[in-house]
Amino acid sequence: MKKIITLLLLGLMVSSYADVRVLKHNKAAEVFTNWHFFENGRGMTISPNMSRLMWMLGEDRRAENKADPITRLISKRYGFVEKDDKLMGVFNVKYKNMDVGVLGCTACHSGKAAGVFVPGLGNKTIDPYLISRDTLKIQRFWGWGNQDPDYKYIHNKALAFAKVTSDPKISSLTRGLVPDSTIKTFFYKDHGLEYPKDMGRAQVKAPHLWGIKEKRLHGIFNDGSLSGESYAWIFGAELFASDSGDHLRAVLPQIKWLTDEVLANLLPPSYPFKVDKEAVFKGEVLFKKTCMKCHGEHQRDPQGHPIYTAPKIIPQKVVKTDHEKLKAISPEFVRLVETGSLGDILTFNHDKIQKGYFAPKLWGVWSRFPYMHNASIPSLYQVMLPPEKRSSIFSMLEAGEEHRFDKVHVGLTLFEKRELPRMLRRAKRGDRDIYFIQREGQSNKGHYFDSFTKLSHQERLAIVEYLKTL
Ligand code: HEC
Ligand code: HEC
Repeated sequence: MKKIITLLLLGLMVSSYADVRVLKHNKAAEVFTNWHFFENGRGMTISPNMSRLMWMLGEDRRAENKADPITRLISKRYGFVEKDDKLMGVFNVKYKNMDVGVLGCTACHSGKAAGVFVPGLGNKTIDPYLISRDTLKIQRFWGWGNQDPDYKYIHNKALAFAKVTSDPKISSLTRGLVPDSTIKTFFYKDHGLEYPKDMGRAQVKAPHLWGIKEKRLHGIFNDGSLSGESYAWIFGAELFASDSGDHLRAVLPQIKWLTDEVLANLLPPSYPFKVDKEAVFKGEVLFKKTCMKCHGEHQRDPQGHPIYTAPKIIPQKVVKTDHEKLKAISPEFVRLVETGSLGDILTFNHDKIQKGYFAPKLWGVWSRFPYMHNASIPSLYQVMLPPEKRSSIFSMLEAGEEHRFDKVHVGLTLFEKRELPRMLRRAKRGDRDIYFIQREGQSNKGHYFDSFTKLSHQERLAIVEYLKTL
C-alpha cells in the first residue's frame, strides 16, 4: 500500500513538474494580455472620453450577454483581435475623472492563427494607418472648447500622435504591417526638427515574442542593429505616442520585468490540427540538410518544450529579401539617436547596422504567416518556391480566422483563379486589405537558395509537415 502511495505521489510530482512551463506560460499570457504602460497621463492614447462613447454604444447588448456589434465592427475595420467580446490590447483607464482609451502592447503583439488566439503572436490584421486616420477626424472636433489642462495634455498628444501615424507618406500601405518610421519621427522631434517626408516607411509585421529573452542580447528587431542591452528599444512602438523620454525612463524597470519575467515564459502555440508523423520524420531530415545551416537547431527540454537560443544574422546579399527596412537605420538616424535625449539607453550594435536579417528561430512558425519580416509570402510552402512562383497578391482580411487557414501549405488561403484579375485591379488601386508585392517595401524576392532547387513537391510538403511540430 505504502509503495503504491509513494508511486502515486511520485507520478503526481513528475506530472506537475512537466506542467511548470505550461503554468508559467498561462500566467504570462494573462499578465501580458492585460498589460499597458499608461502612467501619469502618458502613453499610447486617444483623446480622453472618446472610449466612453465606444463602451456606451455596446453596453446594452453586453448587459444582455449578446455579441456587441460595435466591438465587432471596430475589430473588423481596424483589425484588432477580438476575444470574448473584448478588443485585445484596448483599455479604458480611469484617470482624473476621465475615461482614457489606451492601447497596450497586445494590440500589436497578440494575434490569431487558424482561429486560435495566441498571446505574443503578431497581430496579422491591425491597420495603424486606418485607426489613426479615423480617430484623427473625430479628435479634431472632439472635446472642442474643453480647457481642462489634464484633458488638453492628453488630447494634444493624442492629436500629434494620430497626425504622424496617419501621414500617408510614412505610414504602412497594407493592413497587418506596422511602419517603424513612426518611431523614427520621435528623434527628429527630440532635436526640434521636422521629420523628412521622404524618410521611407520601413513596414514590418509585428514579430512573435516567445524566446525574446534569449534573442534580446543579440539585437532587437529583425535586423539586430538595435542593442537589447538596456531593454529601452522594446518600448520603441510607444516612444512617439507618449512623446516623452521621461516616460520611457519611468517605465524602464517594468519593461525589464515584463521582458525577463513575463515574455520569457511564453511558449509557442501548438499546431491545432493532426500531423502526418511519417512525413514529419522525412521533413526533419530534409530540414537538417536544407535549412539548419541558417536557422540552427531546435532542441527541447525533457518535457518537450523549446529550449530558446539566439538566432544568427544572415547578410542581406545572401538572403536577398526586401531591403527597405534595413535602410531605415541610416547614418542620419543613428546620429540623431546617439546625440538625443535618450542616447544613453537607446544604443546600437554598430556591427549589425544595414548588414542583414536574423534567420529567426522557427518555434510556432505555423502561426506566424504571412512570412518574412515584411509578411510578403503567404505560406510555408511558398517560402521554398522561387520568388516568381509565389503569389503576388493575397487577402489580409480576417487573416487569423480558421476559414482563412490553409492546412496543406500552412498559411493563408489564396484568391481563386477567376477572382484574380478583379483583385489585381483592386490591389493596384491601393486596397489596404490586399497584400501586393509591387508596393514599396513589400517585395517577395529572396530567401531562395541553391539547396532549394533540388526539393520536390513532396519534399517541400514534408518540410512543411515537420515545421508544424515546432
Ligand atoms: C503599433 C504596434 C506595436 C505596439 C503597440 C507594440 N509593438 Fe512591439 N513591435 C512592433 C513591431 C512592428 C516590431 C518589429 C519592429 C522591427 O523588427 O523592425 C516590434 C518589436 C518588438 C520587440 C522586439 C522583438 C524582436 O524579435 O526583437 C519587442 C520585445 C516588443 N516589440 C515588445 C513590445 C512591448 C513590450 C510593447 C508594449 C510596450 C510593444 N512591443 C508595443 C509593433 C508594436
Ligand atoms: C542562407 C540562410 C537561410 C537558409 C538556408 C534558410 N533560411 Fe529561412 N530565413 C533566413 C533569413 C535570413 C530569414 C529572415 C528573412 C527576412 O525576414 O527578410 C528567414 C526566414 C524564414 C522564414 C520566415 C519566418 C517568419 O516568421 O516570417 C521561414 C518560415 C523560413 N525562413 C523557413 C526556412 C526553411 C523551411 C528553410 C529550408 C528549406 C530555410 N528557411 C532555409 C535564412 C535562411
